[in-house]
Amino acid sequence: MDLNELKTRAQKEIRKAKNLKELDKIFKKYLGKKGEISRIFSSLKGLSEKEKKKLGKEANLVKREVEEMIKEKLKELQGKLRKQKIEKEKIDVTRPGKKLGVGHLHPLTLVQREVLEIFQSLGFSVVLGPEVETEWYNFDALNIPKDHPARDFWDTFWLLRNQKIPNHKSQIPNKFKIQNSKFQKLLLRTHTSPVQIRYMEKHSPPLRIVVPGKCFRHEATDASHEIQFYQLECLMVDENVSVANFKAIIEEFLKRFFKTKIEIRLRPSYFPFTEPSFEIDIRGEKKGNWTELLGAGMVHPNVFKAAGINPKNWQGFAFGVGLDRLAMLRYKINDIRLFYSGDLRFLKQF
Ligand code: DAH
Repeated sequence: MDLNELKTRAQKEIRKAKNLKELDKIFKKYLGKKGEISRIFSSLKGLSEKEKKKLGKEANLVKREVEEMIKEKLKELQGKLRKQKIEKEKIDVTRPGKKLGVGHLHPLTLVQREVLEIFQSLGFSVVLGPEVETEWYNFDALNIPKDHPARDFWDTFWLLRNQKIPNHKSQIPNKFKIQNSKFQKLLLRTHTSPVQIRYMEKHSPPLRIVVPGKCFRHEATDASHEIQFYQLECLMVDENVSVANFKAIIEEFLKRFFKTKIEIRLRPSYFPFTEPSFEIDIRGEKKGNWTELLGAGMVHPNVFKAAGINPKNWQGFAFGVGLDRLAMLRYKINDIRLFYSGDLRFLKQF
């Protein structure tokens, strides 16, 4: 057995080893229990003492050298591995970060907030009312009796389980009571006007409120009608409130909301809860076509009575405007259904 040949062979193989697995194989081949070097030691048995000593010494030397070479190679391979791992785990702090999906406000919310801010700056308080309403507040108290044809203006979603709700127990003196049935029917409010009554029952004039909120109508949808929409109700009551006050407030509001002078036109109209009633049309500085904007009027004496306020001492104006309508005019949107479609292509524009 040529020990030198064995050493060179081992050295060559060790040098070529590409990974720990290959190196381990080489270790076993030469230094394992049944490896080539171990076999040399067991072959010593049959030799003379002298030869044993000589060959044993040489074999030991080669063994140590091969061990050393493998150790070196092991260090080299482990170093390489560590470097690769570090390379792989390196964080490039200069790379642009992942964009977080941040939500934003719906156009109707934006418009509602802006409108409320304007009215608050004009001294109006923001008041809310329930979306599920009784027939009393939504209709009767607003001077819309049950069998009156005016009720057909408001296509109503009636709620089925309404028999158990006790009738409206108000502090209203009997002589002012308009309607007195045994039980209240429930419905989804068709307008924000019922909140006028709710508020006046609990607060004495003078008062100025705006009421934003969702309303519902059981009707076919098209580009300008949705079964669900937003209104803003406005009510101002004092000893001497007149149509002139209404005009001043609405003109100021429109100027601030549209950020330009807006011309208004009052057209005679009919609402059961106001007398006189009118429809307001608007047009901008270019004096184009008139656009219908809202319904308004002077609070009807029966409405005051229903809320327990003496119409001889107080008068007021009220109006109701579609917040969707304001948003459509502001953003030049021609289909109200877009607001409720959940279409991100639409919503992302605001
Ligand atoms: N409630 C009416 C509607 O939904 C709008 C309205 C008209 C409200 C005249 C008012 C008003 O307060 O005075 O059609």
